Amino acid sequence: MYLHPEFEKLSRSEIEALQLERLKKTVRQCLRTEFYRERFAERRMTADDIRSLSDLRRLPFTTKQDLRDSYPFKMSAVPLSEVVRLHSSSGTTGTPTVILHTQKDLDEWANAVARCLYMVGLRPGDIFQNSSGYGMFTGGLGFQYGAERLGMLTVPAAAGNTKRQIKFITDFGTTALHAIPSYAGRLFEVMEEMGLDPRRDTKLHTLIIGAEPHSEEQRRRIEQMLGVKAYNSFGMSEMCGPGVAFECTEQNGLHIWEDYYIVEIVDPVTLEPVPEGEVGELVLTTINREAMPLLRYRTRDLTRILPGACPCGRQHLRLDRMKGRSDDMIILKGVNIFPIQIETVLMQFAELGNDYLITLTNEEANDLMTVEVELKEFSDDYPRLQALTREITRQLKDEILITPVVRLVAKGSLPKQEGKAVRVKDLRKTLI
Ligand code: COA
Ligand code: AMP
Ligand code: ZN
Repeated sequence: MYLHPEFEKLSRSEIEALQLERLKKTVRQCLRTEFYRERFAERRMTADDIRSLSDLRRLPFTTKQDLRDSYPFKMSAVPLSEVVRLHSSSGTTGTPTVILHTQKDLDEWANAVARCLYMVGLRPGDIFQNSSGYGMFTGGLGFQYGAERLGMLTVPAAAGNTKRQIKFITDFGTTALHAIPSYAGRLFEVMEEMGLDPRRDTKLHTLIIGAEPHSEEQRRRIEQMLGVKAYNSFGMSEMCGPGVAFECTEQNGLHIWEDYYIVEIVDPVTLEPVPEGEVGELVLTTINREAMPLLRYRTRDLTRILPGACPCGRQHLRLDRMKGRSDDMIILKGVNIFPIQIETVLMQFAELGNDYLITLTNEEANDLMTVEVELKEFSDDYPRLQALTREITRQLKDEILITPVVRLVAKGSLPKQEGKAVRVKDLRKTLI
């Protein structure tokens, strides 16, 4: 059962006192790693320099590149014998990233997710189904342990197999479902094909949607289609996974759990704090983690802190829904993809030229990535071109974990802007 409701009810002054205490502890923990020892030495700082929360601004930022450079275990702040799980980002061509967890980290993560689910009214007796990918996708095990911690009956259905997913929903009487917003549309479409009306034929009342940007209109549409309340869930593997920030029943901003994270919003160029309430890059410091604490992690997500108090009474700050990214990461089907991963695969084929175009669409509730790539030379050897297309598709799927449609096109046929190739065209409707 969910154990620590007291942290949810902290006042601002209690939150800040706890943050300072935990920040001091975190800094000492960070200094067990060579990475942070070097950063502190460059700044001639020691753990004793953290006397107030405003001293946070003197600390170094941490970036995804730092995580890559530390791959796999260099950022561990505990002996590896104390680490009980790792989650790793996708990719075999570039260096992936790794996040490490002790048993206490996993327990705290489960508590955070349980807190989120409890906040939106879920209780023991609810039946919780998870359509996230399991394995390395943190939405799988993250929600699994959180929902179990809360004491719900869990259905770890995992991604895909939509008809089976729906059968579980109807047969087991699933009341709450975690689904990526774009997949919620697909579920509804298949329910209709099966002659099912979600309001009449299921017991669903709550949807947890997250992992990709979506608009208020998209949420309302999901709520109407499925006859549920849908709550926005924000998280990222670097912070553990889901459970970082979550909407309460007011559905107006995502409470970020400040007993776990210290929030900053900075200008992505100057790295200075933006004026209160303005959009900037979300920077998070973990203050409740043992194996791999991170100081001032640049998430690259763009958002703002909502002004004013939430009518629900919780004092933890609220983030606005995500407005985009300050890098070129694409999120499709709940999977994060960097164009450079695609480029790296393509450039390994001698038959291909340098120009390619990634187009994202979502016709009829199906998210799709099309990769058009120019051939180096004209060819009408169709069997060979077909085999080449198949091989590129296979290698791309290995790298980015989703299956793109690959099209080989003639040299010079892809659009250019001022001589430069356009790399990504996002034609998905109702994005933000
Ligand atoms: N969540 C769950 N299932 C999804 C999905 C999503 N975001 N996107 C697609 N699917 C379903 C498809 O509907 C299809 O099932 P169906 O034909 O029975 O309807 C099945 O997964 C395969 O989809 P397809 O688009 O053909 O495959 P792909 O190779 O391009 O993608 C997935 C493979 C879906 C397995 C991969 O995209 C995935 O694991 N997505 C989930 C990621 C996730 O959980 N992220 C959360 C992070 S917190
Ligand atoms: P991952 O590390 O795979 O869990 O992906 C984390 C990223 O997914 C975040 O940095 C965001 O860019 C995105 N993301 C997660 N949740 C949301 C959400 N609720 N709204 C918008 N983007 C999200
Ligand atoms: Zn609230």
